[in-house]
Amino acid sequence: MRRRGMVDTRRMTSSDLPRIAEIQAHSPEAAHWKPEDYLHHQCWVAESGPVLAGFLVLRETAPGEAEILNLAVDPACRRQGVAAALLRAASLHRFERVFLEVRESNAAARALYAAFGFIGSGVRPNYYACPNEAGIVMKLQKWYGLGDEGPTGPPDV
Ligand SMILES: CC(C)(COP(=O)(O)OP(=O)(O)OC[C@H]1O[C@@H](n2cnc3c(N)ncnc32)[C@H](O)[C@@H]1OP(=O)(O)O)[C@@H](O)C(=O)NCCC(=O)NCCS
Repeated sequence: MRRRGMVDTRRMTSSDLPRIAEIQAHSPEAAHWKPEDYLHHQCWVAESGPVLAGFLVLRETAPGEAEILNLAVDPACRRQGVAAALLRAASLHRFERVFLEVRESNAAARALYAAFGFIGSGVRPNYYACPNEAGIVMKLQKWYGLGDEGPTGPPDV
């Protein structure tokens, strides 16, 4: 995976919430939680120059286990390595397993997660509404220090 331009990551703060709401509103494929609720979890933002370009929220679900609650990048900032930078930053926080759900039709997100070593671990029919669609459950073992090139080998399962 290539790294393009300069993307900085940091923890999300309450002053980021209006911009988070804006990105979420422009990302119908993303989950739509109340932005203020993200601050109860582990959350990061990515800045591309002066622009807050994207965010990622991880929720710890059990000891050593977490799920990606949301990840979205401003449409104007996509394919510039923003989501990859967020995944790298968040993976400095070690978990044994990380799960997520993604719409079956969401090819961009599925390609991103696959590039980082996530594998499909189940299908939840009719998981999403408007439009009604299956959710693909994806899982990554050993979430720690994801590199520029993604994992170097197949994950342990
Ligand atoms: C999915 C999403 C977060 C990707 O963000 P991004 O910043 O554009 O992704 P990156 O530029 O970091 O891409 C990293 C890699 O992911 C894959 N990828 C990302 N977008 C892709 C696309 N549209 N098509 C194919 N592969 C894609 C590629 O392997 C890419 O590496 P490359 O550009 O060197 O080929 C973004 O498209 C988005 O916000 N979508 C709407 C919200 C969403 O679907 N969230 C996920 C909910 S589970």
